[in-house]
Amino acid sequence: MKINELHDSIKNKTARLAVIGLGYVGLPVAAMFADAGFDVIGVEIQADRVAKINSGVSPIEGDEPGLAELLARVIKTGHLHATMDYAGLSDRDIILIDVETPVDEQNIPRYEALRSVLKSLGPVMKRGALVIVESTIAPGTIASLVLPLLEQYSGQKLTEGFYLGACPERVMPGKLLKNLSTLSRVAGGMTSETSEAIIALYRYIVHADLDAADCVTAELVKTTENAYRDVQIAFANEVALICEAVGGDVWKVRELVNKSPMRQMHLPGAGVGGHCIPKDPWLLAYGARDGNVPLRLIPAARAINDSMPVHMVDLLMKALTDVGRELKGAKVVVLGYAYLENSDDTRNSPSEVLVKRLRELGAEPVVHDPWIAEYAGDVFERVKGCDAVVLMVAHSAYRKLDLDRLKSALRSPILVDGRRVFEPGKILSAGFNYYCLGAGSL
Ligand SMILES: NC(=O)c1ccc[n+]([C@@H]2O[C@H](COP(=O)([O-])OP(=O)(O)OC[C@H]3O[C@@H](n4cnc5c(N)ncnc54)[C@H](O)[C@@H]3O)[C@@H](O)[C@H]2O)c1
Repeated sequence: MKINELHDSIKNKTARLAVIGLGYVGLPVAAMFADAGFDVIGVEIQADRVAKINSGVSPIEGDEPGLAELLARVIKTGHLHATMDYAGLSDRDIILIDVETPVDEQNIPRYEALRSVLKSLGPVMKRGALVIVESTIAPGTIASLVLPLLEQYSGQKLTEGFYLGACPERVMPGKLLKNLSTLSRVAGGMTSETSEAIIALYRYIVHADLDAADCVTAELVKTTENAYRDVQIAFANEVALICEAVGGDVWKVRELVNKSPMRQMHLPGAGVGGHCIPKDPWLLAYGARDGNVPLRLIPAARAINDSMPVHMVDLLMKALTDVGRELKGAKVVVLGYAYLENSDDTRNSPSEVLVKRLRELGAEPVVHDPWIAEYAGDVFERVKGCDAVVLMVAHSAYRKLDLDRLKSALRSPILVDGRRVFEPGKILSAGFNYYCLGAGSL
């Protein structure tokens, strides 16, 4: 198919679509294009996920407004079908790639999933197909890795045999559909005609700016926006530690700082997790690996944010010491194990680090999380007989906790809050010893 024919097929919705990787990003994207009237297949390697999706049930358990209904609808109409078989891609005109792109222990992306996709896709790819990488990748990866591998495995050449672009996602769990339809996107193409085709396609689901760019710009924008967030959170966290040291309250400080023009101090917190923010700054940095760029800020921000769950343990120790207790042997309730409020996503969970540290120091952690089957259940049952509570995630359920019941279930009323979920006045009048990240003992 020539690029103008591809344009026509997008215009009259006869283009056949595929989404490879039906996770937090790929599943809602596939469902939205299906709902827009395209014929979409989703390729996924997890058999149970494929079965669940084909039965019209979303495998994403968190609070995801509209997704369950949307998925049920597009499966019923037959516009979306999931499969494990790459042979199904042979008639696809447009293929979106949405697989995970983690970094390893040395913070280097190995792209196992992406390489495997390209190896399976190349031999079956239709001539003239448009391949769009939605996954977050280091700047330069389309040119240095995706293009050569796709040429190698397909035996075809760029623009003669296929078109290639990068259109990174900006979604966040809890707001997947909303973010998808309302946030602007950068449509990176290996040629300007490719960018235009990508824009024409996404126009069906994105009701915001679609900006044409080259691939490296699209890759840079995505990794930069998440590195920006990580650095800003690290700054807020460092100020939080300073506030604790000098007897201030970072939550009040932040509120007042942000009254000053052009200041948008981020929220501090008990840790940064998820699939994206902890690794995207490393992807950005990796893009410059051959350029002798002295990296100082990005690694420092990562180190600060990674240290926050350990700081929460220090705060807990202080709280226990203040009442003459020891951490060793203490039974500690950890509220929240997902990395984000009202989500079931536990990837790079700060609570995992906290729990490990508590065990190392001889404490006995007891985890509760309403969104994760393993840890769900009655929170007061979990709290019964424990020595302290550490709040790690601002799930809505925790904001509504009955403080009197919480206090009477605990052996000692110690509450360490890593997200300022509780209002100090209320919690103190309920009789708790209240410690808050960025404010210390209140
Ligand atoms: N989660 C987010 O909030 C978010 C936001 C923006 C961008 N991103 C980026 O999007 C990409 C995907 O993230 P995600 O959170 O959806 O990951 P995910 O792990 O939820 O989904 C990836 C899916 O791809 C599947 N998969 C892996 N290898 C495959 C293969 N060879 N063939 C077919 N399927 C395969 C996995 O089984 C999984 O279901 C990443 O690059 C991420 O950085 C994620």
